[in-house]
Amino acid sequence: MSNPALQDLIAQTRATLETIAGQYGPAVFASSLAAEDMVLTDMILRDKLPITIFTLETGRLHAETLGMLDRIRQTYGYDVTPYRPEPAAVDSYVAQHGRNGFYDSVELRKECCRIRKIEPLNRALAGNTSWVTGQRRAQSVTRAALDVQEADPAHDMVKFNPLADWSEEDVWEYLRANQVPYNPLHDKGFPSIGCEPCTRAVEPGEDVRAGRWWWENPDSKECGLHVVDGKLIRIKSQAAPGA
Ligand code: ADX
Ligand code: SF4
Repeated sequence: MSNPALQDLIAQTRATLETIAGQYGPAVFASSLAAEDMVLTDMILRDKLPITIFTLETGRLHAETLGMLDRIRQTYGYDVTPYRPEPAAVDSYVAQHGRNGFYDSVELRKECCRIRKIEPLNRALAGNTSWVTGQRRAQSVTRAALDVQEADPAHDMVKFNPLADWSEEDVWEYLRANQVPYNPLHDKGFPSIGCEPCTRAVEPGEDVRAGRWWWENPDSKECGLHVVDGKLIRIKSQAAPGA
């Protein structure tokens, strides 16, 4: 890799991960199995750092996303820990609202995210000192002030965003240079990948998050995984409501 600025970023990120492993353990990394998270997965597993990698397996992920669990096993010999929603809570939601009830209202969408993501996240984080995410500052205006290290009072933990300073280009240069496996949906117009029914491809030049919960007003687009200053991060995009 010839880009000196990226070499510096990589060195800083490695140092952050080593600090997390050495001083903030036990530590866990929440991986959505998308591109950013594969950068961190590669660094953690190559350096054999004691940071456990988990994914929130919501039951509604694309087959391509689930396929990344096999790719990681084949490439690194590592099994990412899946956290799944409580079956009884899913059954009750489906019985009352239908499997895709989340299209009907913001409340029903948030309730689905609570059952399929937030409750399993709380279980995944329990008993740990710190957690790691793949969030980047440039992903969204709401992440513009993202720090590499922050307090997470909601979980009473330290939260790290080691890729806060990385650009999308940095991510892809790292993945290519190190031949890191990545979700094939990224080559099909999906810069940001969540659950299958709530993610769609975007047109070139569209906001990277325009394909997430595209039917909602941008102000309601909160998934609830990331909380800052006691508030849920608001996800802005240029997608027209109802488009
Ligand atoms: S989200 O909050 O809108 O879903 P995004 O898809 O940008 O966020 O992902 C940001 C970070 O949240 C990821 O880098 C990862 O750390 C965490 N994350 C998102 N989805 C999952 C998931 N299904 N499992 C584990 N971590 C996730
Ligand atoms: Fe449910 Fe969609 Fe949230 Fe996934 S992103 S948990 S399918 S509402």
